[in-house]
Amino acid sequence: MFWNGKTTEVSINPDAKLFLMHMSDAQQPSIQLRQPRRILVTGGAGFIGSNFVHHWCRTYPRDRVVVLDALTYAGNRQNLSDLEGVANLRFVQGDICDRELVDRLLREEALDTIAHFAAESHVDRSILGPGAFIQTNVVGTFTLLESFRQYWVAEGSPDSYRFLHVSTDEVFGSLAAEDPAFTETTPYAPNSPYSASKAGSDHLVRAYFHTYGMPTLITNCSNNYGPYHYPEKLIPLMIINILLGKPLPVYGDGQNIRDWLFVEDHCSALDVVIHRGQPGETYNVGGNNEVKNIDLVYRLCQLMDELAPDLPVQPAENLITFVKDRPGHDRRYAIDSTRLKNELGWVPKTSLDEGLRKTIEWYLAHPSWWRSLLSQEYQAYYEKVYA
Ligand code: NAD
Ligand code: TYD
Repeated sequence: MFWNGKTTEVSINPDAKLFLMHMSDAQQPSIQLRQPRRILVTGGAGFIGSNFVHHWCRTYPRDRVVVLDALTYAGNRQNLSDLEGVANLRFVQGDICDRELVDRLLREEALDTIAHFAAESHVDRSILGPGAFIQTNVVGTFTLLESFRQYWVAEGSPDSYRFLHVSTDEVFGSLAAEDPAFTETTPYAPNSPYSASKAGSDHLVRAYFHTYGMPTLITNCSNNYGPYHYPEKLIPLMIINILLGKPLPVYGDGQNIRDWLFVEDHCSALDVVIHRGQPGETYNVGGNNEVKNIDLVYRLCQLMDELAPDLPVQPAENLITFVKDRPGHDRRYAIDSTRLKNELGWVPKTSLDEGLRKTIEWYLAHPSWWRSLLSQEYQAYYEKVYA
């Protein structure tokens, strides 16, 4: 048993856990018996989804976990390979836009929770081809909402059911240097086809709570990093290019700021929101790690010089190359997670340096994982963006 001043979790048997919570001085401690959940994880073979599946299977081994993933270029069965043989985990390859399939899975697995990660998630790809973003992020989310609503009503509208929509801070647009960080009440102002499609899906989720009373939750999170991150995003792209001795493309002047969160901290925040979040609410999730891109890339270079043996180019910073800026590039994102801290007791545990070290060590230990992703499709994409 451990005590962190907020929550004590006591395992009494594998099916039930006691949560003793001190929510605030004003509230009395409460005791809740945890019922096992039956959870559908959409996009569970992607970066954050697969980390979440690992987190959930480790933390709640008696829960039923069903992964629904279309295995687009960003989805990878290998991300779940070490969970093969786990009896309570089922993988289904399929599209969230396939209404019949979603209806069937909800009924056949008697699911009570959806953790919805499936999305087209990369800004640069949304600039090259926005159509897939509207289809999966808007139409796909709508399909899940409709399917879950009808199923939830048919089940008698149980209070305990949850629909968690995992979204992004990018829906709030871009901050100037002196602006306060995004809160849950910051007006939406999405600037890329990606963030506009996520904003559209957030509005649909919100409407399903207000119109139908469906127990939805929304999280808006800052930039994640960690194991299983597809190498088109900044941090894994830089790590892999350093290993291959390729140029490190920094967009524009490199002064854009992102607020970085280690993916395991994101997963623990989602866990807390599913269990204790207030239906109909949104929660911002951030890492308190605002860093300029160029500073982050320099730090990655230093860590790679220290941790990776026999790099083709040393020091790695000799590979840094400024390239043409991304069109409509948001200048700064910063998240204020005060609500999550004050109401649900969540704070991120991993410092940026610790998280970067863990991430680099993971990539060094898994060369066959990332090498298998450098396919023709990846090279063709790379040519288009960095030509
Ligand atoms: P990802 O691109 O790594 O994974 C997306 C997964 O969804 C893939 O496994 C893909 O195969 C699957 N998928 C795509 N279209 C599908 C469809 N039509 N049907 C079923 N599955 C489909 O994305 P990620 O970085 O893991 O992001 C997960 C979620 O978190 C997204 O909704 C994203 O908007 C959100 N988010 C991401 C970040 C970040 O920094 N990566 C930050 C905040 C929020
Ligand atoms: P990215 O990982 O694509 O996340 P997002 O665009 O969702 O924030 O990019 C993070 C930051 O890094 C963003 O400001 C764009 C920048 N960037 C580069 O400078 N070079 C690159 O090659 C990539 C992929 C991103």
